[in-house]
Amino acid sequence: MTNDIDTFESARVPHAPAEALRGRDVLSIADFSAAELRTILRRAHALKLERRSGVPHRILEGRTLAMIFEKPSLRTRCTFETGMTQFGGHAIDLAQEHMQMGTRESVPDVARNLDRWVDVIMARVYSHRTVVELAAHAKVPVINGLSDFSHPCQILADLQTIEERLGRLTSLKIAYVGDGNNVTNSLIFAAGVLGLDLHVGAPEGFQPDAAVLGRARALASRSDGEIVVHTNPADAVDMADVVYTDSWVSMGQEGESGSRLKVFPPYQVNAALMARARPEAIVMHCLPAHRGLEITDEVMDGPQSVVFDQAENRLHAQKALLALVLGA
Ligand code: CP
Ligand code: NVA
Repeated sequence: MTNDIDTFESARVPHAPAEALRGRDVLSIADFSAAELRTILRRAHALKLERRSGVPHRILEGRTLAMIFEKPSLRTRCTFETGMTQFGGHAIDLAQEHMQMGTRESVPDVARNLDRWVDVIMARVYSHRTVVELAAHAKVPVINGLSDFSHPCQILADLQTIEERLGRLTSLKIAYVGDGNNVTNSLIFAAGVLGLDLHVGAPEGFQPDAAVLGRARALASRSDGEIVVHTNPADAVDMADVVYTDSWVSMGQEGESGSRLKVFPPYQVNAALMARARPEAIVMHCLPAHRGLEITDEVMDGPQSVVFDQAENRLHAQKALLALVLGA
């Protein structure tokens, strides 16, 4: 890995001042300007380089993150907690079975308690409305750790990964194949804000939400981005530089798995589909992967796969967010 931050496009293009991000909630990628996203990515690259070279950065000593999980997690839980540890701060995992947000205590009251004790809140929720409600009532920043609508932390780590591997985000064809879900929505917003060329291949009935596409395309008309939806996955992947997929059945949709598993097999990312992409294309998955469904072992374990870089970069990208929203 490079030691030169200027290798990354996000270090060379215009930035917002760090101060612009202080105190901000992180609910959706669309809440940020291109310059603000570049500031976050540049900080993520810098923090990763510092960590690699052993430079300590205990910049959140005495600060506490509260983590709310309504759904399971490996990466989000470990990376937020590890990030706070590396910053010299502390993270509290508020298990939903104990806190019972929304039943034992209302969402606004949980927010109004937590902000008396902690400096920042991260929440993984079923309904996006819950994280919006937390943010509306908490006086400290609230970070969306995945909702049914979006997964902004994931996409920040993914953008960092693309830049590491390909040096840039623009002038690349990015393909997303599979279910038009929360991860897709955040990728679509990133394309709109940053001016990326994004091609989604998804079956009828599972394509991205029209309102998300409308908002992102309005942003893309100003950023020079392009967002195209295909029904044929090969059309999405044709000559792509990046091929991204995710689960066909997201958390909370388990009751639909029978019908979904009938529709999605033509959208599997396998060697035949990858043959349509550029030979040097990278393969991405936010994980957890369902091997043999949305992605084959051969592709996930093959030389084009960057899935564990994405997982690592959750740590660095979220540390950047924590540092910036807390003004450190
Ligand atoms: N990608 C991701 O958010 O992983 P977890 O569900 O394990 O947190
Ligand atoms: N779309 C998936 C992402 C998991 C990180 C889900 O919501 O379950």
